[in-house]
Amino acid sequence: MARTFFVGGNFKMNGSNSSIKEIVNNLNNASLDPNTEVVVSPPSIFLQTVRESLNKKIGVAAQNVFYKPNGAYTGEISVEQLKDSNIDWAILGHSERRTILKESDETVSLKTKVATEAGVSVIWCCGESLEEREAGTTIEVVSKQLASLKSHISDWSRIVIAYEPIWAIGTGKVATTSQAQEVHKAIRDWLAKNVSDKVAEETRILYGGSVNEKNCGELAQQPDIDGFLVGGASLKPAFVDIVNAKQ
Ligand code: G3H
Repeated sequence: MARTFFVGGNFKMNGSNSSIKEIVNNLNNASLDPNTEVVVSPPSIFLQTVRESLNKKIGVAAQNVFYKPNGAYTGEISVEQLKDSNIDWAILGHSERRTILKESDETVSLKTKVATEAGVSVIWCCGESLEEREAGTTIEVVSKQLASLKSHISDWSRIVIAYEPIWAIGTGKVATTSQAQEVHKAIRDWLAKNVSDKVAEETRILYGGSVNEKNCGELAQQPDIDGFLVGGASLKPAFVDIVNAKQ
């Protein structure tokens, strides 16, 4: 079964009521490849407005979710609250949360388990730092992150993996197509060896890190690159060109 191409737009902590309205209008009026699944992820304060105003064919993701159902967890949002607001996706394990907010593999895995078991799909992020790449430990680092995930979940059907080398995020330094393809292939091989051939074959693996309308075409041609998780460029009209990278 062919994997449906997937493009996520992670707005991170960017946008205002007016700029996000403009992005939504732009997407609602754009001609988007019907064969690409699109999910956008605004800051939590805009989730509900975006869900209500955006074309229903486009998914909406929270940038985080907590693993407790409700209670005294100031500042957190639960999976049930997302579902109650018709938010079907969450981005988990983004390197900015792993590094700046000190989220461990264990925390990310637990959040992913709770979200997916409740029916919220997850864009689960992994990737190495510049030091780790230079030390030649990229595959080891990503495998360790995957192993933590595997120890918590059994149903992979609600997971999309995003490989995001930290050194390529927001730096303008995109991984070369061969660097990206090599790690994507290694992730797929890891899934085949440690989970199943079916999961390896069906799981989408996205690339993230300085993707733009100019470099997306070549990356999209790689056999193990099934789409993108886009940061900065998802705030611009050129996001539409990235969504249409396979056309
Ligand atoms: O979640 C998206 C990634 O962190 C990529 O961000 O496209 O701004 O480099 P970027």
